[in-house]
Amino acid sequence: MVTLRTVESFGEIAAEDDPVLDYFLTTEAVQDIESGKILLVLGRKGSGKTALVRHFTETNPATHGQPLSLRSYPWGTHSALVDKGASETEAYVASWRLLIAIRLASMVSELGSAKFSDTLEGLRKFLMENFGTIRPETKSILSRPKLKVVGLTIGPQVAGISLGSITFGDPTREKVIGLELDSLANSLLTDISTAVAELRIENLYLHFDELDQGLDILDDVKKRMLIGLILAARDIKRSTEFRANVSPIVYLRTDIWEQVSFSDKNKITRSSTVRLKWNEETLKALVESRLAAKLGPTVSWPDIEDGGKMRGSQGKLQHMLARTLLRPRDVIQFLNEALKVARDRTDDPLVFINDDFNACREEYSEYLKDELSDEIDPHWPNWTDGLRACSRTKTITFQKEDFLKNYLQIRAPENPLDGNAALEQLYRFSIVGYLRPSGGGGSSWSFRYSDESAGWDATASRLKVHIGLKEHAQLKEERIGKD
Ligand SMILES: Nc1ncnc2c1ncn2[C@@H]1O[C@H](COP(=O)(O)OP(=O)(O)OP(=O)(O)O)[C@@H](O)[C@H]1O
Ligand SMILES: [Mg+2]
Repeated sequence: MVTLRTVESFGEIAAEDDPVLDYFLTTEAVQDIESGKILLVLGRKGSGKTALVRHFTETNPATHGQPLSLRSYPWGTHSALVDKGASETEAYVASWRLLIAIRLASMVSELGSAKFSDTLEGLRKFLMENFGTIRPETKSILSRPKLKVVGLTIGPQVAGISLGSITFGDPTREKVIGLELDSLANSLLTDISTAVAELRIENLYLHFDELDQGLDILDDVKKRMLIGLILAARDIKRSTEFRANVSPIVYLRTDIWEQVSFSDKNKITRSSTVRLKWNEETLKALVESRLAAKLGPTVSWPDIEDGGKMRGSQGKLQHMLARTLLRPRDVIQFLNEALKVARDRTDDPLVFINDDFNACREEYSEYLKDELSDEIDPHWPNWTDGLRACSRTKTITFQKEDFLKNYLQIRAPENPLDGNAALEQLYRFSIVGYLRPSGGGGSSWSFRYSDESAGWDATASRLKVHIGLKEHAQLKEERIGKD
């Protein structure tokens, strides 16, 4: 008999803390990234970026190495390494290429530790002389006063002159620092690709996670640095002069990517990007993979609930998913809250009943609001003015004109957005959706998280708050029906 009594939880909501590899679900994104064509992985908060990085780097360290986390990265120090000879867009490409090259040098040095080759020895020597270790910390790589040129097969040159070292932060060398960084990166990359080929590795990956930690507030310099990283990654990936394939992959929150613009952005978004998207089917599979790991390989969703219909004759799975933004984190949180409620009952065997799902929504709704705050605060600290304006109507659906009236009264003096702009942002983060005419004379609610291609309709008059926020915003559903 299946019982939830023995289940402590459905897992932690952040992949860093979750034993996610015990029940990792292989999605389409995995294949796309493995194909080597991908440069950028975009997803909202909680959509599974870190889970992917852990999957690759922990199950296959030989070709995926250690992830490159940019948590507490010294963006300020790095920002001084501007390439004055390059365009604004490309000002940071050279420094990122060098950083990537040094990380790759460290990776191949470790991978080939048992093998001897002159190239590998040389790379190790370069790392030891400069950092005292073959595993320098990412944050320290560009933070030292200078780098010595040692161990490389073909040393860097600028204008025909060999460089013995590269000095950072020397104002007299400002004009050439870009060339020097580039040239050193090229020397390193040439040796790295030789070493990779000697190690018979077909493709070496490098995963960059947690960029958002320093980038949620983007000024112009940080924007240029982010663009520089993407362009540097692309450049290294495309290089044909190297003997082996090297694939840097950048994981980024969608809202941050939306804030930058540069000439090749569209091209990159279309041809070299994976968007992490989940639907009912894949989220159910994610849950069932956890059930299989915790309760046995044959256990599936119907085994852990009583089959009773919720309000509007909705199944429990659909009831839950409707309250998420179709992200794994929301699902895990909802189930953990429901499990807490269920475990207070004495039933044996223990399975979910409707009351568990009804009673847990209050806590879940607070979670959802906090998770949204983490995402939206950096863009619009007063976003709760918008949510409170929705609450004033007391019902989950409302008229735009009522919203505008209420918002005018609530809006804090320091809040930069007027009512229309506020609605557009609420739509952007899927807090609000609008009633959209659909084929055959009907209409349906369009939210960005589930209907991305629709776009915001500034003329829509009938709006709705995301139902996951209903309890937090103290709203009522006016009738049970099609929505
Ligand atoms: N493919 C998957 N298989 C199993 N669990 C997953 C998968 N993808 C994500 N999860 C789980 O979903 C939760 C959220 O994922 P994760 O922490 O990777 O999101 P994220 O995109 O890195 O979020 P953030 O932007 O906040 O860093 C975690 O508990 C993670 O273990
Ligand atoms: Mg993460």
